[in-house]
Order: sequence, then C-alpha cells, then structure tokens
Amino acid sequence: MIIPFPVKSTIDSRRSSRSYKMIDVEDNVMKSIKDFAKSMEVPFEHDVEIRFFKADPTKTLYTVMKSPPDNVAFIAETDIVSISKVGFIGELLILFAQSKGLATCWYGHYKLVELERLMPHLQSPEQLKESNMGYGYSKGVTTGRRAICITPLGYYEEGGLRLMDRFTKKTSSFRRKEIKELLENPDEYEKLSEDVLYALDLGRKAPSAANSQMWRFGYEDDFRTITVAMPVGYKHFKWEHPNVDIGICASHIWLGLIDRGYNPSVTVNDESGRAVWRFSV
Ligand SMILES: Cc1cc2nc3c(=O)[nH]c(=O)nc-3n(C[C@H](O)[C@H](O)[C@H](O)COP(=O)(O)O)c2cc1C
Repeated sequence: MIIPFPVKSTIDSRRSSRSYKMIDVEDNVMKSIKDFAKSMEVPFEHDVEIRFFKADPTKTLYTVMKSPPDNVAFIAETDIVSISKVGFIGELLILFAQSKGLATCWYGHYKLVELERLMPHLQSPEQLKESNMGYGYSKGVTTGRRAICITPLGYYEEGGLRLMDRFTKKTSSFRRKEIKELLENPDEYEKLSEDVLYALDLGRKAPSAANSQMWRFGYEDDFRTITVAMPVGYKHFKWEHPNVDIGICASHIWLGLIDRGYNPSVTVNDESGRAVWRFSV
C-alpha cells in the first residue's frame, strides 16, 4: 500500500482552520484531490461518497465563519459502521488536502438546510426535520443516506483569525491525551512495541468533535491485534456521532502501521452499539 503523502509530518501539521480566503482552490490542486478521492484505497468495503460542492461566502453554512468557495461532504448511511467509515475515509481526504497546502475543518454542526440548498442530496423532506435545532446533525439514529460531516477546502486566512480559532489554539487544538491515559489497561504500556507506540501516537493526535478524544486502545491475540473504540455507553454532550471520530482515529493508526512497513488486516464491527476497529499485524 502506497500512501501519497508523508504520514507523520502531515498528521502533525494538520489543524482545524476556521478562517479562509474567499478564493477557489487552484485547478491543478483540485484535480489532484478529486483524483485521490476517486482512486483512494481503503482496507474495507464501503459506500461512503465524497462529494465536492460550492458554497456562498456567507456564514449560513458553518454559522461561525464564512464558507470558502470549495467544500466537501462525506455522505453515507447512518448505521454505526457506515458512520465510522466516514471518519476513516474523510480523514484520508483531509490529510491529502493538508499535504497539498490546503486548510480544512471537520464539521458536524453545519446548517443542514443550507447544505441541502447548495448540494441537494436528501431523499425526503423528513430528513431535514431530523436536524437538531435546525443545524448540524440529528439526534439519535436516522434513516437514509445523507451528509454526515462536511469540511471547507481552502486557503487559511492568517489575518482573519477568529475568536473560535484563538480559543482552540490556546485550549484544545494542540492538546492531546497521552497514550497511557488512552489504554484500556494502562499496565500494558510497557509491553507495547515501538512500532505499535508509533501508530498509537498518531492515533491520539486525531481530531475529534470538541477535542473529546473519546477513543480507547486495547489489545487482543497476545498484542498482535490493536482495538480502537469508545467506551461502552459513551455519550458526548452535544455531538451525536462519536463513531465518526473513532474512524478518524482508526485511519491514523492504520497509516502509522503502514508507515512502519506493516500491511495490517482491518475489521470494523458494531459491538454493543459502538464501532470497534481491529488491526492485526
Ligand atoms: C467529527 C468532528 C466534528 C467536528 N465538528 C465541528 C464543528 O461542528 N464546528 C467546529 O468548529 N469544529 C468542529 N470540529 C473540529 C474540532 O473542534 C477539532 O478537531 C478539535 O478541537 C481538535 O483540534 P484540531 O483539529 O485543530 O487538532 C469537529 C471535529 C470532528 C473530528
């Protein structure tokens, strides 16, 4: 498996950007991203769609910031496993865009009515009513295919650093839990190989809604299998779909293992109402 960007430096340099220049992504860069989206290889079957769309320079879609012209939606069914695959696939696209010099930001709480206006994709008006407080995603399990998350795709506007950006820069953005705090059994830390620690270090750097870092790492099969999932019964106070975040974290671990020369077998299943990813080397 060849990953078309440097894994560690791309993960280390990505940040959520909430301020964009109101200009189109350059044609050749856009083409390379669309080609990547089409030919992306992932270690599982899926039907996640990556859809590119244009937005108006208003604050309607993202509510706290103006949309740049270019944006991407990740569309899927809303069962737990599909939701988690959105995280995995979306993060690969986001990291590829990062490696091309573009800024991005995972968004779960976009305005669905505005998204539907810009990019019609719902199958019934009922789906619009499912949106939570008129924006963002819906509460509980929903039906049908729909956009799960979106991201702007553009150039960071330095001077336009908004309050939200300054806030996250100081607080969440660079802060991550240590690997030890994320192990289901912290006593196992000493037994982990350098390669596994490398992959988990990239996993812990994944972005998550409100920087919640709800993933936990476990082992099976005499440390040959790494598991990634949120704790059973985990609920986020305002983000309804933390299985997206688990898929994002899983993609970083997968990239880390590939970077270290492994070709892990990968599975993802719904277990006790949450997505559980397994990487076996
Ligand atoms: C699934 C997901 C949904 C997110 N939704 C939003 C959102 O609706 N609004 C927002 O401003 N940031 C959103 N974020 C960005 C997170 O706040 C951000 O990733 C986190 O604070 C870590 O910062 P970093 O991405 O700069 O490393 C989301 C992130 C993820 C992974």
